[in-house]
Amino acid sequence: MTRILAISGSIRTESFNTALLNAFGPLAPEGMTIEVFKGIDELPHFNQDLEGDVPASVTRLREAVQAADGVIISTPEYNRAIPGVLKNALDWASRPYGQSSWAGKPVAVLSSSPGVQGGIRAQEELKGQLRNLAAYVVQGPEIAIPEVHTRLGVDEQARVTLTDPATAGMVKFLLQGLQNAVDTKTGETHTKALNAWAASLAG
Ligand SMILES: Cc1cc2nc3c(=O)[nH]c(=O)nc-3n(C[C@H](O)[C@H](O)[C@H](O)COP(=O)(O)O)c2cc1C
Repeated sequence: MTRILAISGSIRTESFNTALLNAFGPLAPEGMTIEVFKGIDELPHFNQDLEGDVPASVTRLREAVQAADGVIISTPEYNRAIPGVLKNALDWASRPYGQSSWAGKPVAVLSSSPGVQGGIRAQEELKGQLRNLAAYVVQGPEIAIPEVHTRLGVDEQARVTLTDPATAGMVKFLLQGLQNAVDTKTGETHTKALNAWAASLAG
């Protein structure tokens, strides 16, 4: 069983990015479960003063990322960048220093927007930030979904669905890429030299 944590870059109730992640279950390879994380809206603004005794919301995020075999993030674009709430979550889970929850974690990334560019600039920024955090950014098809509101629907059981077959096909490949990274432990290999260097400093 492969446990994937899904994080939406939007905390809006009717978020298209959250809706997308909720529609991914049927597109996942056999044996993969996808749990959508709820709670990045509960994180306080990152503040080093809080690091000594972190709020429960922070611990919950860190533990969820650590317990997951991999993570998938769908982000909107705010003013050609990632939303502040998502950056805040990245920062909280990158700490304490030397114990980042992101290091070696396979992460798949996509973006969406009601606009025509699909949030591609935010997606690029997010991938760069994750690489800086030593996460392993999964290489799959680049999925930046334009006019996302036209590609979502609801089935008879009131579940959100991805109605565009081409996009759904790409998502299947991206999730398979995440599965492959988990199966081959690519994330661990990816951070081997970094960990060896840190250990050499510790003596
Ligand atoms: C402050 C702000 C800035 C935005 N900037 C962009 C942008 O740069 N590019 C874009 O495609 N959409 C932009 N949008 C529109 C968002 O893509 C849209 O609100 C989207 O629905 C947000 O994602 P969500 O549905 O997951 O909440 C912006 C929206 C807000 C509120």
